[in-house]
Amino acid sequence: MGKEAASAFARWFMLLDFPAQPVLTAVADLSPTVLEWYKQIPDIKLLTTDYKELLASDVDVVYVAVPHNLHEHIYTDVLRAGKDLLAEKPFGIDLQAAENILQVIKETGRFVRCSSEFPFLPGVQRVIKTVQEGIFGHLLEIKAGFHHSSDLDPTKTINWKRQTQFCGLIGVMGDLGMHVAHVPLRLGWKPRKVHAHLQKIYTERPDGKGGMAICDTWDNAILHTRLDIGAQKDIPMTWEMKRMAPTETNTWYIEVLGTDGGCRFSTKEPKTFWQYTRGKEQWWQKTDLGFQGPYATVTGGIFEPGFPDCFMQMFAGYIAEREGFSNGRFTCATPEEAVDSHRIFAEALLTNV
Ligand SMILES: NC(=O)c1ccc[n+]([C@@H]2O[C@H](COP(=O)([O-])OP(=O)(O)OC[C@H]3O[C@@H](n4cnc5c(N)ncnc54)[C@H](O)[C@@H]3O)[C@@H](O)[C@H]2O)c1
Repeated sequence: MGKEAASAFARWFMLLDFPAQPVLTAVADLSPTVLEWYKQIPDIKLLTTDYKELLASDVDVVYVAVPHNLHEHIYTDVLRAGKDLLAEKPFGIDLQAAENILQVIKETGRFVRCSSEFPFLPGVQRVIKTVQEGIFGHLLEIKAGFHHSSDLDPTKTINWKRQTQFCGLIGVMGDLGMHVAHVPLRLGWKPRKVHAHLQKIYTERPDGKGGMAICDTWDNAILHTRLDIGAQKDIPMTWEMKRMAPTETNTWYIEVLGTDGGCRFSTKEPKTFWQYTRGKEQWWQKTDLGFQGPYATVTGGIFEPGFPDCFMQMFAGYIAEREGFSNGRFTCATPEEAVDSHRIFAEALLTNV
């Protein structure tokens, strides 16, 4: 993800009327091979295998993308070094770690946000706007999810995301959950009840050295939740986070249905927004939105947005909010939203039956 971030900064001139320019000057990674890649970036002055050296330099903001077991330690070191932070999800390996990070944010007063890029896509922005118009009547149900499929291959080599000691007891929820939680939490949809169905499928995987290694994380998670929105009580909201969803390659989706209307968006159709209306007849209509992120770019309106675009929009959201010119546009997940997502995942572990 560090390389994705570097690529976003390298094409910053795409943004229109954006009066702040981040410059990538220092990178820390344990792997000298990984550091080698960054040598092609002209503004970098420091490449180091010791992140403390980076924290001692004059950088203002640090983006940290490391395994989950290291989040609390490195995030709090960044804050205590007087730097602002764009933290990767899930914002700590568990709820306790997330709360500890939040405590250090309060103590240091640094500006911190958590990574979650899909809500910056035009289709998701339209979902948020349409929901906020309040035209759906009584909400019937909300479904949101994030699906991967490559773990269906039993010969896929193990990595840290498939081992509880590095990824966390919440498993797939730590890996994919913040992506699912961000929009519902931003809309104020905090479940008051969570009931989980968690699955572990393959218990070991090739270790990449000719043997097998224990694979002990939850692969798939379905969270059935209930929430109240004003006078509307007991609305079912389902969150699905799956590493084993046949044929799905990074599919993020949301669907909101009410008595009078509804909408849906999926990255399967990356430019298409669907809206349901109930008149004399009931209709699903769709429109192709093209390229319209919250932060305007030089890219023509008819083109399709993709992962690097929403990732860059997320960084634009971070910088704009930090510098005070987001002006009501969408911004990154807050530390409080990240902690709330952890509360829900912690409850899921307790209610899994
Ligand atoms: N926003 C997204 O879409 C997205 C996608 C994938 C991963 N992530 C998150 O990004 C983070 C990293 O995931 P990844 O897929 O990039 O993992 P990765 O394993 O590909 O990369 C992690 C890097 O951290 C380095 N590292 C480990 N310990 C270090 C240390 N002490 N000091 C410096 N560098 C160290 C490793 O050498 C490695 O290069 C995780 O929190 C993950 O959940 C986010």
